[in-house]
Amino acid sequence: MNSKAEPHILFDRKEIETAVRRLASEISQDYRHKNPLLLGILRGSFVFLADLIRHLDFPLEVDFIGLSSYGSSTQTSGKIKVVKQLETPVRDRHVLVVEDIVDTGLTTAFLLDYLQKQKTASVKVCALTSKPSRREVTVNIDYLGFTVPNKFLVGYGLDANQKFRNLPDICYLEDETR
Ligand code: PRP
Repeated sequence: MNSKAEPHILFDRKEIETAVRRLASEISQDYRHKNPLLLGILRGSFVFLADLIRHLDFPLEVDFIGLSSYGSSTQTSGKIKVVKQLETPVRDRHVLVVEDIVDTGLTTAFLLDYLQKQKTASVKVCALTSKPSRREVTVNIDYLGFTVPNKFLVGYGLDANQKFRNLPDICYLEDETR
């Protein structure tokens, strides 16, 4: 990766907030009386999840699972590793998986397969961004913020070699793809 790459804004903080509010409204209609478990995939989803839950005014729980496929590389290894287990029993729970980006789909597909073995009441997916041009496996996204082009995205939780997660806008790095 070019370490001199400068981030350019793709979606600014106001566009993100509008999308988060819309997603929260959709989720509220479906989950208001279900005490859902919102399951964030670490690390990238933590900023999105933190903003999303503050627009949800009904009982819910939050947990995290740490999954990683990229390591320090910009290319997915294709092998998903559980780097932090979730702690909440998910049997009979309505689980909403919260992702910052669905790229190849391998991470989300791995988690959906994992959860389906746990006899949940239901599982749905909320993704802030989706990059369909990179998809390797089919993933159904129930609540989607933005469809994004094939650019290397950083900011609002997304990283490049662990950097840029703190940018308040969703940005891209020129000359990088993922
Ligand atoms: C990123 C992102 C998603 C995943 C999507 O995580 O946060 O979880 O890649 O890619 P995929 O659809 O191709 O599987 P990453 O493995 O980079 O770890 P991170 O969340 O700690 O940044």
